[in-house]
Amino acid sequence: MKKTRLGLALVLVASMAGFVATTLAQETPPATPPAGQGRRGGGGGAAPTNISGAMGDMNRALRTLKTEAADPTKSEAALRDIGLLQRDVAIAKSQLPPAVNDLSGDEKTKQANEYRSQMISLMRVLLDLEDAVVAQKADDIKNLLAKIDDAQKKGHADFRK
Ligand code: HEM
Repeated sequence: MKKTRLGLALVLVASMAGFVATTLAQETPPATPPAGQGRRGGGGGAAPTNISGAMGDMNRALRTLKTEAADPTKSEAALRDIGLLQRDVAIAKSQLPPAVNDLSGDEKTKQANEYRSQMISLMRVLLDLEDAVVAQKADDIKNLLAKIDDAQKKGHADFRK
């Protein structure tokens, strides 16, 4: 009988220790994420879920990209930002903006095709830019960054309410 009680007490202590260890492990804050992997999802964080969120991310990534792209010592950071832009264009491309969603019939189909087509062109420019950064082709990098600005201006003139 005494042995049974001792056994029960041991089991109880062991399970309490397990519970405390699990709770502590859950409350331990995560290590500081590496540079570029913060809230906006760089390098594996949460991706945006709508066009507005994707565009906000694109804006931030493009701003830093412009300071990195032509600098050979910052190629890795530039490639990471280009990857983020590609991811966000893919997200924006998979949805329709309100300016298109509010239409109907043939006009909606036409504008949806035009929206997708502009997004696909932007993706192509980003892939070319990725090539240019890898190959460190300064003139190409400059021209492709200018093309991104043009794509943004046209996209906003056509589709941003
Ligand atoms: C790298 C290029 C681009 C950048 C940096 C950019 C940036 C932005 C920003 C900062 C916003 C405001 C987001 C917010 O706070 O709500 C926005 C909205 C928007 N952009 Fe872009 N944009 C780009 C290219 C494009 C292109 C090519 C298109 C269309 C083909 C486009 C269509 C839109 C639309 C429709 C909105 C409004 C979204 C909504 O209100 O739901 N953008 N963009």
